[in-house]
This record gives sequence, structure tokens and C-alpha cells, in this order.
Amino acid sequence: MTERKHIPVALLALALLGGPSAHAQEAPEARQDMALRGVMKQLGQDMQAVTGAISEEDWQLVAQLAPRIGQHEEPPAREKMRILGWLGADARKFRNFDLELGKGAENLQQAAEQEDGQAVIAAFGKLQQSCLACHQSFRQPFVQHFYGER
Ligand code: HEC
Repeated sequence: MTERKHIPVALLALALLGGPSAHAQEAPEARQDMALRGVMKQLGQDMQAVTGAISEEDWQLVAQLAPRIGQHEEPPAREKMRILGWLGADARKFRNFDLELGKGAENLQQAAEQEDGQAVIAAFGKLQQSCLACHQSFRQPFVQHFYGER
């Protein structure tokens, strides 16, 4: 791996942008958890907190939690580049799922601010669908590529 040090950064960047096929036969890239996993864990916790708040009909708390979901943290630039490189042509699709998540969280917040319980529950369901949609397309291949597990 030492010869890698001598490869100019620009070339490394090109290799990273090569897309999934360029890395298909390589060993898993990640030796430790990707930052995205931490972001996802937090999303999972925030969604659970929303479920709890809905049960309590605590609309104010729902309204506070929703933006944390919509404006979740992002992985550092370096990791983002790796992910984009792997996504290749699918980057747009991945990004659209994230945009959908943002819109869904805004709808949830609005419904909660209006203390409209039915609308909150409907918006929460839609939000969960955008989690599921991205997971169905990307989660397993992501884990397989970056961690080499299922
Ligand atoms: C744009 C795509 C995308 C969206 C939208 C998305 N996820 Fe994920 N999620 C992923 C990917 C990719 C992984 C695999 C990451 C990993 O294992 O490192 C993942 C993994 C997870 C995990 C497992 C983390 C672990 O510990 O292994 C949880 C929990 C999770 N997501 C929750 C959510 C929730 C809740 C939402 C919606 C509020 C959501 N995700 C929306 C892409 C997405």
C-alpha cells in the first residue's frame, strides 16, 4: 500500500469517481464505521422519538424533532466523495431520496405546528416511506461494498 502515497491526489480522485464497477473485485474499503452509519443511527433514534411524541400527542415535541430529521448531519467531505464515487450514475437518485426526506420532514413539522394529529400521522408514514425507499435501493449494496457484509 506504500506506493499509493506517490499517486497524485488528482489521480486518486479519478479512481474514486470510477463508479461501482471499478471496485467490484476489491476487498471492502471501510475498516471502521462510515460516518453515514452514525448519521443513520441518529435518524433512527429521532424517528423513534417522534413515535413516542405522537403517542403522547405532544405536537410541540414532534415539531421540534422534525427539522433534526430533515436537516440531518452529513458525512465529512472525504467520505462523501467516496460515496459519490461508488454511486456513480446513481448519485442523483440517492440525492433525490434525501431531498424527499427533507420535504417529508417539513410536512411533518407543519402538521405538528397545526396540531393536526391525523396529518402528523400521515406525514410520519410518508417520511418512513422515504427511509424505506432509499434503503431498498441502496442499503444492502452500500453495506456490501463498504463493509463486505450483508
Ligand atoms: C438517501 C438514502 C437514505 C435515506 C433517505 C435514509 N437512509 Fe438510512 N441508510 C442508508 C444507507 C446507505 C445505510 C447503510 C449505512 C451503513 O450501514 O453504514 C442506511 C442505514 C440505516 C440504519 C442502520 C444503521 C446501522 O447501525 O447499521 C438505520 C437505523 C437507518 N438507516 C435509519 C434511517 C431512517 C430512520 C431514515 C429516514 C428518516 C433513513 N435511514 C433514510 C441510506 C438512507
